[in-house]
Amino acid sequence: MRVGKLKLVPDLSLQFDNIGIRLLRVLAEGGMGIVYEAEQRGYAGFHKRVAVKVIRDRYSAHEAFRGNFVGEACLVATMRQANIVQILQLGELNGRLFMVMELVEGVTLEEFILQHRALGIQIPVELAAFIVSRVCRGLAYVHGKKGEDGLPLAVVHRDVNPRNILLSHEGEVKLTDFGIAKARSWMYSEEGTVVAGKSEYLSPEQVRKEVTDARADIFSCGVVLAEMICGENPFEAETSVMSRRNIVQMPAPDVEHYRPGLDPRWGILCGELGQAPRRAFSKRFGDAVGIGAIPVQR
Ligand SMILES: Nc1ncnc2c1ncn2[C@@H]1O[C@H](COP(=O)(O)OP(=O)(O)OP(=O)(O)O)[C@@H](O)[C@H]1O
Ligand SMILES: [Mg+2]
Repeated sequence: MRVGKLKLVPDLSLQFDNIGIRLLRVLAEGGMGIVYEAEQRGYAGFHKRVAVKVIRDRYSAHEAFRGNFVGEACLVATMRQANIVQILQLGELNGRLFMVMELVEGVTLEEFILQHRALGIQIPVELAAFIVSRVCRGLAYVHGKKGEDGLPLAVVHRDVNPRNILLSHEGEVKLTDFGIAKARSWMYSEEGTVVAGKSEYLSPEQVRKEVTDARADIFSCGVVLAEMICGENPFEAETSVMSRRNIVQMPAPDVEHYRPGLDPRWGILCGELGQAPRRAFSKRFGDAVGIGAIPVQR
Protein backbone atom coordinates (compact mmCIF):
# COMPACT_ATOMS: atom_id res chain seq x y z
CA MET A 1 0.00 0.00 0.00
CA ARG A 2 1.10 3.59 -0.52
CA VAL A 3 2.91 4.47 2.65
CA GLY A 4 4.07 7.53 4.49
CA LYS A 5 3.91 10.00 1.59
CA LEU A 6 1.81 12.41 3.57
CA LYS A 7 2.60 14.06 6.84
CA LEU A 8 0.49 13.54 9.91
CA VAL A 9 -1.39 16.67 10.90
CA PRO A 10 -0.21 17.48 14.46
CA ASP A 11 -3.56 18.93 15.59
CA LEU A 12 -5.39 15.87 14.42
CA SER A 13 -2.89 13.52 16.08
CA LEU A 14 -3.38 15.38 19.34
CA GLN A 15 -7.16 15.12 19.11
CA PHE A 16 -6.93 11.40 18.53
CA ASP A 17 -4.41 10.98 21.34
CA ASN A 18 -7.02 12.45 23.67
CA ILE A 19 -9.44 9.65 22.84
CA GLY A 20 -6.86 6.88 23.18
CA ILE A 21 -6.03 6.47 19.50
CA ARG A 22 -2.50 7.12 18.30
CA LEU A 23 -2.16 7.89 14.61
CA LEU A 24 1.04 6.22 13.45
CA ARG A 25 1.31 6.92 9.74
CA VAL A 26 -0.68 7.72 6.66
CA LEU A 27 -1.54 4.57 4.77
CA ALA A 28 -3.21 6.20 1.83
CA GLU A 29 -5.29 9.11 0.70
CA GLY A 30 -8.57 8.26 -0.98
CA GLY A 31 -11.19 10.49 -2.49
CA MET A 32 -13.28 10.46 0.67
CA GLY A 33 -10.64 10.81 3.28
CA ILE A 34 -7.26 9.83 4.61
CA VAL A 35 -6.59 6.38 5.97
CA TYR A 36 -4.13 6.07 8.84
CA GLU A 37 -2.54 3.14 10.52
CA ALA A 38 -3.18 3.71 14.21
CA GLU A 39 -2.97 2.17 17.63
CA GLN A 40 -5.90 1.90 19.96
CA ARG A 41 -4.67 2.09 23.51
CA GLY A 42 -6.08 0.52 26.62
CA TYR A 43 -5.31 -0.47 30.17
CA ALA A 44 -1.79 -1.48 31.27
CA GLY A 45 -0.09 -0.93 27.95
CA PHE A 46 -2.76 -2.74 25.95
CA HIS A 47 -2.65 -1.66 22.34
CA LYS A 48 -4.13 -2.87 19.10
CA ARG A 49 -3.31 -1.86 15.53
CA VAL A 50 -6.28 -0.51 13.61
CA ALA A 51 -7.02 1.56 10.52
CA VAL A 52 -8.64 4.97 10.94
CA LYS A 53 -10.35 6.70 8.06
CA VAL A 54 -10.83 10.41 8.61
CA ILE A 55 -13.49 11.81 6.31
CA ARG A 56 -12.68 15.00 4.45
CA ASP A 57 -14.14 18.23 5.80
CA ARG A 58 -16.31 18.92 2.78
CA TYR A 59 -18.02 15.57 3.24
CA SER A 60 -18.17 15.73 7.02
CA ALA A 61 -19.85 19.13 6.84
CA HIS A 62 -22.54 18.02 4.42
CA GLU A 63 -25.74 17.23 6.29
CA ALA A 64 -27.30 14.70 3.92
CA PHE A 65 -23.99 12.93 3.54
CA ARG A 66 -23.49 12.76 7.30
CA GLY A 67 -26.92 11.35 7.95
CA ASN A 68 -26.53 8.71 5.33
CA PHE A 69 -22.96 7.85 6.20
CA VAL A 70 -23.74 7.45 9.88
CA GLY A 71 -26.84 5.36 9.15
CA GLU A 72 -24.99 3.03 6.82
CA ALA A 73 -22.01 2.73 9.17
CA CYS A 74 -24.34 1.72 12.01
CA LEU A 75 -25.91 -0.94 9.80
CA VAL A 76 -22.60 -2.28 8.57
CA ALA A 77 -21.30 -2.40 12.14
CA THR A 78 -23.86 -5.14 12.85
CA MET A 79 -22.32 -7.31 10.15
CA ARG A 80 -19.59 -9.73 11.00
CA GLN A 81 -18.14 -11.91 8.31
CA ALA A 82 -14.58 -12.89 7.40
CA ASN A 83 -14.62 -11.23 3.98
CA ILE A 84 -15.93 -7.87 5.17
CA VAL A 85 -13.65 -5.30 6.80
CA GLN A 86 -15.03 -4.78 10.28
CA ILE A 87 -16.03 -1.32 11.42
CA LEU A 88 -14.99 -0.97 15.06
CA GLN A 89 -16.03 2.56 15.84
CA LEU A 90 -17.64 5.61 14.35
CA GLY A 91 -16.80 8.98 15.84
CA GLU A 92 -16.49 12.68 15.37
CA LEU A 93 -13.72 15.07 16.32
CA ASN A 94 -14.28 18.80 15.88
CA GLY A 95 -16.97 18.14 13.32
CA ARG A 96 -14.86 15.66 11.38
CA LEU A 97 -16.25 12.16 11.01
CA PHE A 98 -13.95 9.21 11.41
CA MET A 99 -14.21 5.47 11.31
CA VAL A 100 -12.04 2.95 13.11
CA MET A 101 -11.66 -0.27 11.15
CA GLU A 102 -9.95 -3.59 11.30
CA LEU A 103 -6.45 -3.09 9.84
CA VAL A 104 -5.75 -5.27 6.82
CA GLU A 105 -2.03 -5.59 6.34
CA GLY A 106 -1.34 -6.39 2.73
CA VAL A 107 -2.15 -4.86 -0.63
CA THR A 108 -5.23 -3.70 -2.46
CA LEU A 109 -6.39 -5.82 -5.37
CA GLU A 110 -5.62 -2.82 -7.58
CA GLU A 111 -1.99 -2.91 -6.48
CA PHE A 112 -1.92 -6.67 -6.97
CA ILE A 113 -3.24 -6.35 -10.54
CA LEU A 114 -0.87 -3.49 -11.37
CA GLN A 115 2.09 -5.43 -10.02
CA HIS A 116 1.25 -8.38 -12.28
CA ARG A 117 0.89 -6.04 -15.23
CA ALA A 118 4.25 -4.39 -14.49
CA LEU A 119 5.93 -7.79 -14.34
CA GLY A 120 4.16 -8.97 -17.48
CA ILE A 121 2.62 -12.01 -15.79
CA GLN A 122 -0.97 -13.15 -15.73
CA ILE A 123 -2.87 -13.73 -12.53
CA PRO A 124 -3.57 -17.49 -12.32
CA VAL A 125 -7.21 -18.11 -13.15
CA GLU A 126 -7.66 -20.18 -9.98
CA LEU A 127 -6.43 -17.27 -7.89
CA ALA A 128 -8.69 -14.82 -9.68
CA ALA A 129 -11.64 -17.14 -9.07
CA PHE A 130 -10.64 -17.54 -5.42
CA ILE A 131 -10.49 -13.80 -4.84
CA VAL A 132 -13.84 -13.14 -6.48
CA SER A 133 -15.49 -16.08 -4.73
CA ARG A 134 -14.39 -14.68 -1.37
CA VAL A 135 -15.68 -11.22 -2.22
CA CYS A 136 -18.95 -12.91 -3.16
CA ARG A 137 -19.08 -14.67 0.20
CA GLY A 138 -18.90 -11.30 1.85
CA LEU A 139 -21.53 -9.90 -0.49
CA ALA A 140 -23.82 -12.90 -0.03
CA TYR A 141 -23.69 -12.37 3.72
CA VAL A 142 -24.39 -8.66 3.57
CA HIS A 143 -27.06 -8.87 0.88
CA GLY A 144 -28.87 -11.57 2.81
CA LYS A 145 -28.65 -9.87 6.18
CA LYS A 146 -31.96 -9.22 7.93
CA GLY A 147 -32.74 -6.67 10.60
CA GLU A 148 -34.17 -7.38 14.04
CA ASP A 149 -37.65 -7.15 12.54
CA GLY A 150 -36.81 -10.01 10.20
CA LEU A 151 -36.95 -7.80 7.12
CA PRO A 152 -34.00 -7.61 4.71
CA LEU A 153 -31.66 -4.71 5.40
CA ALA A 154 -31.10 -4.37 1.64
CA VAL A 155 -27.56 -3.05 1.95
CA VAL A 156 -25.83 -2.74 -1.41
CA HIS A 157 -22.15 -1.85 -1.67
CA ARG A 158 -22.39 0.08 -4.97
CA ASP A 159 -18.63 0.54 -5.36
CA VAL A 160 -17.11 -2.93 -5.68
CA ASN A 161 -13.79 -2.31 -7.38
CA PRO A 162 -10.16 -3.45 -6.92
CA ARG A 163 -9.35 -0.48 -4.65
CA ASN A 164 -11.98 -1.60 -2.16
CA ILE A 165 -10.81 -5.23 -2.12
CA LEU A 166 -7.94 -5.80 0.29
CA LEU A 167 -5.66 -8.84 0.21
CA SER A 168 -3.88 -9.56 3.46
CA HIS A 169 -0.44 -11.10 3.76
CA GLU A 170 -2.21 -14.03 5.45
CA GLY A 171 -4.20 -14.75 2.30
CA GLU A 172 -7.50 -13.22 3.37
CA VAL A 173 -9.71 -11.31 0.95
CA LYS A 174 -11.73 -8.45 2.44
CA LEU A 175 -14.16 -6.02 0.97
CA THR A 176 -14.24 -2.55 2.46
CA ASP A 177 -16.23 0.70 2.18
CA PHE A 178 -19.73 -0.72 2.46
CA GLY A 179 -22.38 1.94 2.21
CA ILE A 180 -19.95 4.73 1.54
CA ALA A 181 -20.87 5.03 -2.12
CA LYS A 182 -24.50 5.42 -1.15
CA ALA A 183 -23.72 8.20 1.30
CA ARG A 184 -21.50 9.90 -1.24
CA SER A 185 -24.23 9.77 -3.87
CA TRP A 186 -26.22 12.22 -1.74
CA MET A 187 -23.65 14.89 -2.31
CA TYR A 188 -23.24 14.13 -5.95
CA SER A 189 -26.92 13.88 -6.69
CA GLU A 190 -27.34 17.40 -5.36
CA GLU A 191 -24.47 18.60 -7.46
CA GLY A 192 -26.00 16.59 -10.27
CA THR A 193 -22.76 15.62 -11.95
CA VAL A 194 -21.07 12.48 -10.70
CA VAL A 195 -22.38 8.95 -10.30
CA ALA A 196 -21.10 7.37 -7.09
CA GLY A 197 -18.73 4.48 -7.65
CA LYS A 198 -15.78 3.97 -9.94
CA SER A 199 -17.16 4.33 -13.47
CA GLU A 200 -15.52 1.37 -15.16
CA TYR A 201 -16.94 -1.09 -12.58
CA LEU A 202 -20.48 0.24 -12.38
CA SER A 203 -23.48 -1.82 -13.37
CA PRO A 204 -25.60 -0.57 -16.26
CA GLU A 205 -28.42 0.33 -13.87
CA GLN A 206 -26.05 2.50 -11.84
CA VAL A 207 -24.89 4.23 -15.00
CA ARG A 208 -28.51 4.89 -15.84
CA LYS A 209 -29.07 6.15 -12.28
CA GLU A 210 -31.80 3.59 -11.70
CA VAL A 211 -32.59 1.86 -8.44
CA THR A 212 -29.94 -0.71 -7.55
CA ASP A 213 -30.05 -3.97 -5.67
CA ALA A 214 -27.64 -6.82 -4.93
CA ARG A 215 -27.27 -7.56 -8.63
CA ALA A 216 -25.31 -4.35 -9.15
CA ASP A 217 -22.56 -5.60 -6.80
CA ILE A 218 -22.45 -8.98 -8.49
CA PHE A 219 -22.11 -7.28 -11.86
CA SER A 220 -19.13 -5.31 -10.53
CA CYS A 221 -17.59 -8.57 -9.29
CA GLY A 222 -17.92 -9.86 -12.85
CA VAL A 223 -15.99 -6.85 -14.11
CA VAL A 224 -13.30 -7.37 -11.44
CA LEU A 225 -12.98 -11.03 -12.45
CA ALA A 226 -12.85 -10.14 -16.13
CA GLU A 227 -10.08 -7.65 -15.37
CA MET A 228 -8.01 -10.29 -13.59
CA ILE A 229 -8.53 -12.82 -16.37
CA CYS A 230 -8.02 -10.40 -19.24
CA GLY A 231 -5.21 -8.40 -17.63
CA GLU A 232 -7.16 -5.19 -18.14
CA ASN A 233 -10.64 -3.91 -17.50
CA PRO A 234 -12.28 -4.35 -20.90
CA PHE A 235 -14.76 -1.55 -20.18
CA GLU A 236 -12.20 1.03 -19.18
CA ALA A 237 -11.80 3.90 -21.61
CA GLU A 238 -9.98 7.21 -21.63
CA THR A 239 -12.68 9.10 -19.79
CA SER A 240 -15.23 7.99 -17.23
CA VAL A 241 -18.05 9.04 -19.56
CA MET A 242 -16.70 6.67 -22.22
CA SER A 243 -16.24 3.88 -19.67
CA ARG A 244 -19.83 4.27 -18.59
CA ARG A 245 -20.97 4.14 -22.18
CA ASN A 246 -18.97 0.94 -22.66
CA ILE A 247 -20.63 -0.60 -19.61
CA VAL A 248 -24.03 -0.05 -21.14
CA GLN A 249 -23.27 -0.77 -24.77
CA MET A 250 -20.28 -3.06 -25.13
CA PRO A 251 -20.75 -6.81 -25.34
CA ALA A 252 -19.15 -8.85 -22.56
CA PRO A 253 -15.45 -9.57 -23.04
CA ASP A 254 -14.45 -12.71 -24.87
CA VAL A 255 -12.24 -14.29 -22.23
CA GLU A 256 -11.02 -16.96 -24.68
CA HIS A 257 -9.51 -14.16 -26.74
CA TYR A 258 -7.43 -12.98 -23.76
CA ARG A 259 -6.67 -16.43 -22.40
CA PRO A 260 -6.54 -18.90 -25.25
CA GLY A 261 -6.78 -22.49 -24.10
CA LEU A 262 -8.52 -21.61 -20.86
CA ASP A 263 -9.75 -24.73 -19.05
CA PRO A 264 -13.43 -24.98 -20.13
CA ARG A 265 -14.53 -25.09 -16.50
CA TRP A 266 -13.01 -21.71 -15.91
CA GLY A 267 -14.54 -20.62 -19.15
CA ILE A 268 -17.90 -21.49 -17.66
CA LEU A 269 -17.19 -19.53 -14.51
CA CYS A 270 -15.99 -16.53 -16.45
CA GLY A 271 -18.86 -16.95 -18.82
CA GLU A 272 -21.29 -16.91 -15.95
CA LEU A 273 -19.80 -14.08 -13.99
CA GLY A 274 -17.46 -12.17 -16.25
CA GLN A 275 -20.00 -12.16 -19.03
CA ALA A 276 -22.83 -11.19 -16.77
CA PRO A 277 -22.92 -7.83 -18.57
CA ARG A 278 -24.31 -9.56 -21.64
CA ARG A 279 -27.32 -10.83 -19.81
CA ALA A 280 -30.57 -9.03 -19.53
CA PHE A 281 -31.09 -7.54 -16.07
CA SER A 282 -33.79 -10.11 -15.25
CA LYS A 283 -31.40 -12.96 -16.09
CA ARG A 284 -28.48 -11.73 -14.02
CA PHE A 285 -27.31 -13.41 -10.86
CA GLY A 286 -29.87 -12.77 -8.17
CA ASP A 287 -27.51 -13.48 -5.32
CA ALA A 288 -23.85 -14.09 -4.63
CA VAL A 289 -24.30 -17.32 -2.69
CA GLY A 290 -23.56 -19.67 -5.60
CA ILE A 291 -20.48 -17.77 -6.68
CA GLY A 292 -19.13 -17.69 -3.14
CA ALA A 293 -19.44 -21.47 -3.05
CA ILE A 294 -17.58 -22.09 -6.30
CA PRO A 295 -14.79 -24.61 -5.72
CA VAL A 296 -11.48 -23.10 -6.76
CA GLN A 297 -9.35 -26.26 -6.70
CA ARG A 298 -8.93 -28.28 -9.82
N1 LIG B 1 -9.02 -1.32 6.75
C1 LIG B 1 -7.93 -1.02 6.06
N2 LIG B 1 -6.74 -1.59 6.35
C2 LIG B 1 -5.64 -1.27 5.64
N3 LIG B 1 -5.60 -0.39 4.62
C3 LIG B 1 -6.74 0.23 4.28
C4 LIG B 1 -7.96 -0.05 4.97
N4 LIG B 1 -8.93 0.71 4.41
C5 LIG B 1 -8.34 1.41 3.42
N5 LIG B 1 -7.02 1.13 3.34
C6 LIG B 1 -6.03 1.71 2.40
O1 LIG B 1 -6.37 3.03 2.16
C7 LIG B 1 -6.57 3.26 0.77
C8 LIG B 1 -7.58 4.35 0.58
O2 LIG B 1 -8.84 3.87 0.93
P1 LIG B 1 -10.11 4.74 0.68
O3 LIG B 1 -11.29 3.86 0.81
O4 LIG B 1 -10.07 5.95 1.53
O5 LIG B 1 -9.94 5.27 -0.79
P2 LIG B 1 -10.20 4.58 -2.20
O6 LIG B 1 -10.95 3.29 -2.04
O7 LIG B 1 -8.90 4.53 -2.92
O8 LIG B 1 -11.12 5.62 -2.87
P3 LIG B 1 -12.60 6.00 -2.42
O9 LIG B 1 -12.46 7.26 -1.70
O10 LIG B 1 -13.32 6.09 -3.71
O11 LIG B 1 -13.11 4.89 -1.53
C9 LIG B 1 -6.95 1.90 0.22
O12 LIG B 1 -6.68 1.81 -1.15
C10 LIG B 1 -6.03 1.02 1.05
O13 LIG B 1 -4.73 1.07 0.51
MG1 LIG C 1 -12.26 2.76 -0.66
